[in-house]
Amino acid sequence: MLYNNNEKSMGFRSQKLAGPGRLITLEGIDGTGKTTQISSLASAIRKQDISVLELREPGGTAIGEAIRRILLDNRNTGMCSESEMLLFAAARAQLVREVIRPALAAGTWVVCDRFSDSTLAYQGYGRGADLEIIEKINNLAVGSCRPDRTVLLDLSPDAALERLGRRPDKADRLDIEGRTFMKRVREGYLAIAAGEPQRFIVVDAGQPARALAQEIFSKIWGGLGI
Ligand code: TYD
Repeated sequence: MLYNNNEKSMGFRSQKLAGPGRLITLEGIDGTGKTTQISSLASAIRKQDISVLELREPGGTAIGEAIRRILLDNRNTGMCSESEMLLFAAARAQLVREVIRPALAAGTWVVCDRFSDSTLAYQGYGRGADLEIIEKINNLAVGSCRPDRTVLLDLSPDAALERLGRRPDKADRLDIEGRTFMKRVREGYLAIAAGEPQRFIVVDAGQPARALAQEIFSKIWGGLGI
């Protein structure tokens, strides 16, 4: 899913809209249906004749994908939380410089499955790492590259776990987290969103996928004043 094939070579298409692209990130606890919503959103934007790049975190570059494999490997139970946080940040730093910045400069929109808020929510609120230190590491990783809009797919941990239970084959090291952890992450996300109401669009991820996709697109499109 990482690259839209047409754009993989970084030869971004010409734009209907002049000016820099927009960075839109999707966030939420595991099991909220982000993957489905990312692709619906990207195709809705594409229908407006805008070039869109779909990315996921951690990943999106060769280095980032290698880091992703380390992070999700069930054998790496000995990974300390500091290593985990730095690996997420390293993957993001690479993604910003190698892919996101050049794409935005060329007028391409970037829709990213997770970004800095994931580290704050999971490693910070979820695992209890110092929020200020995470903010500093996040700043180092992304520099001035900030999302124009962030969609928070909000769902109760019970509903999310029920959804994840339908895909036990896909459970990885980070999926195997307790309900309490998910609750902390969800509350963390809601706190981050409350602190930046202009950037965040909080939606109820429990509704049917199609209705949710429409709500997300119309709020982004309307909110960006296009
Ligand atoms: P993701 O691939 O989005 O998983 P899913 O499709 O199941 O939502 O993310 C992988 C896991 O990595 C997920 O459990 C969230 C976690 N994660 C962090 O803990 N910190 C981060 O900074 C990022 C980007 C992800």
